[in-house]
Amino acid sequence: MPAPTAISVSSAPAAGEAGLRDRFGRTITDARISITDRCNYRCVYCREGAEPARAGSELSWEAWRQVLGVLRRLGIRKLRFTGGEPLLRPGLEAFLATLAPLGFEDLALTTNGHLLAERAAGLRAAGLDRITVSLDSVQPEKFARITRVPGAWERVRAGIAAAVTAGLEPVKINAVLLRGFNDDEIEAFAEFARAERVAVRFIEFMPLEEGRLWTPEIVVTMSEILARLEARYRLEPLAGERSETARRFRFADGAPGEIGIIAPVSRPFCGHCSRIRLTADGKVRTCLFSLREWPLAPALEAGEDGLEALFRRAVAHKEERHHIGEPGFQRPSRTMVHIGG
Ligand code: 5AD
Ligand code: SF4
Repeated sequence: MPAPTAISVSSAPAAGEAGLRDRFGRTITDARISITDRCNYRCVYCREGAEPARAGSELSWEAWRQVLGVLRRLGIRKLRFTGGEPLLRPGLEAFLATLAPLGFEDLALTTNGHLLAERAAGLRAAGLDRITVSLDSVQPEKFARITRVPGAWERVRAGIAAAVTAGLEPVKINAVLLRGFNDDEIEAFAEFARAERVAVRFIEFMPLEEGRLWTPEIVVTMSEILARLEARYRLEPLAGERSETARRFRFADGAPGEIGIIAPVSRPFCGHCSRIRLTADGKVRTCLFSLREWPLAPALEAGEDGLEALFRRAVAHKEERHHIGEPGFQRPSRTMVHIGG
């Protein structure tokens, strides 16, 4: 990213003044934007059966540009584009290139990596800072079974290498662990982090899938993951930002690579959540587990003031926390492929 210009800096609100603050005192500085709910994978822990996800009507790039201008003024500093699979949406690079004048501090993307090998350099040139690739197995056959796409492993591996070469660093790898399925690969993932010089982040499985796979027992918890890793490696904790969701470690033997553990189930980080989410069809969600959404369409018609009022209203209703695993827990109104991770 180029350094923000004086204009973009002065257009950002002073902290605590005109920014987005919720009723629990949390300041919202990060937005996750799903630009399509189409996906070319059908990962078993996310999607159900053969039925492809139906794309709703996607918000235009022009509308997104307008929305992001308002969010920047309201103090959003970091953007992450997600999906579905965001690289399936045509025009992404051209759109990213228009964001430079807004002066966001950090532009990131989460992808399944299938199309990344041929796109990484162009994404970097368009102003993308960082990338996260989802990878739930380091065994080619198992990865094909998880994604239900033959040959997926080779493509994603090439995509990760291209992202490193393009300087989209630190390249992060997200691995969702499911007991009895890929929890035998914890050490293999650590070896992958060391060999490929990437940060592997283990994520506890949340009840956001289309099917009914989630049970408390299928979740591989942070303490289990750490115990397994510490039996093999000496890990040193890395300091992180307060709003960071991952607990991070480096290898004490000086090997490259990094380990992160994201534990929304066993150690929820809702107390310092700094996020809002926007769906591909233009709805604001204040939590992954929101039961309510705020449509952008009427606000877009009312222009910038309308959008600002909508964001303030939505954030004023941001949920205190999720209730995974508690009696009476209600699944959100949409699943992960539609919300965006
Ligand atoms: N629980 C935890 N993580 C999930 N992801 C997708 N579904 C779930 C779930 N139910 C991950 C994806 C991706 C990130 C955006 O979220 O693997 O890396
Ligand atoms: Fe934020 Fe909701 Fe996730 Fe908690 S569950 S960290 S409130 S998005």
